[in-house]
Amino acid sequence: MSLYVIGDLHLHFAAPLKAQNQLKDRVWKNHEKKFEKYCRALIREDDTLLLAGDHSWGRTLQEAMPDLQYISELPGRKILLRGNHDMFWDAAKTDHLNERFSAAWQTAGLASPLYFLQNNYYPYEDYALVGTKGFTFEGPFYLNRSGRIIGWDEEKEAHARKLIERELGRLCISFEKAREDGYRKFIMFLHYPPTDILETESGFTRMAEEFGAEQVIYAHSHGESRFHDSILGEMNGVRYQLVSGDFLKWHPYQVL
Ligand SMILES: [Fe+2]
Ligand SMILES: [Fe+2]
Repeated sequence: MSLYVIGDLHLHFAAPLKAQNQLKDRVWKNHEKKFEKYCRALIREDDTLLLAGDHSWGRTLQEAMPDLQYISELPGRKILLRGNHDMFWDAAKTDHLNERFSAAWQTAGLASPLYFLQNNYYPYEDYALVGTKGFTFEGPFYLNRSGRIIGWDEEKEAHARKLIERELGRLCISFEKAREDGYRKFIMFLHYPPTDILETESGFTRMAEEFGAEQVIYAHSHGESRFHDSILGEMNGVRYQLVSGDFLKWHPYQVL
């Protein structure tokens, strides 16, 4: 039994493609075919595959359905985390998604159940898989002539802080529920990186340390220039790993 993760499939079987770079960059060419092939070679039915957000360009559940069907046909137990582009997924209605696509997956027309991670957790052996979308401040930043950041949009930064607080609350609920059920070992998943480019630590890294998460796994950063936006490797006893699909070139990353 193994645990795999990858993020940012950005599927668009029934939705208009919004990202121009997805068309231009070679790594995105037939990415859903490459990814499916790698999954079939690697993942067994008793394995778990966590998808770390930005599943679909669909703006509604109807538009996202072919993408969710594609995911449901992949091998293993599939757990989905919410990304910033997942418009089909209203965080407040996660229970509804779980009822429809995990409890009643056959009638929903899926090949296997899908599990949605939000204000809950999922067990994996003696670990609890916890997580939330997260959030980071992404500017605008103001640069001097040599490209150094000398300021930023303070109004947008204040708004970002509010969203970060809300996401920290959701993450805390996920950890607390697992802890109440007796779990002491955690793998923490975020869609956004745990820190923005101005930070070396954040509320997310502090919460990971407070609960003793062994690993923090995040996605969202696309393209060579963004792969080093946040922490990679070990910090204060926690291992940080970026798993956006184009970073992994569509090979699922083995967590455990
Ligand atoms: Fe993405
Ligand atoms: Fe994203």
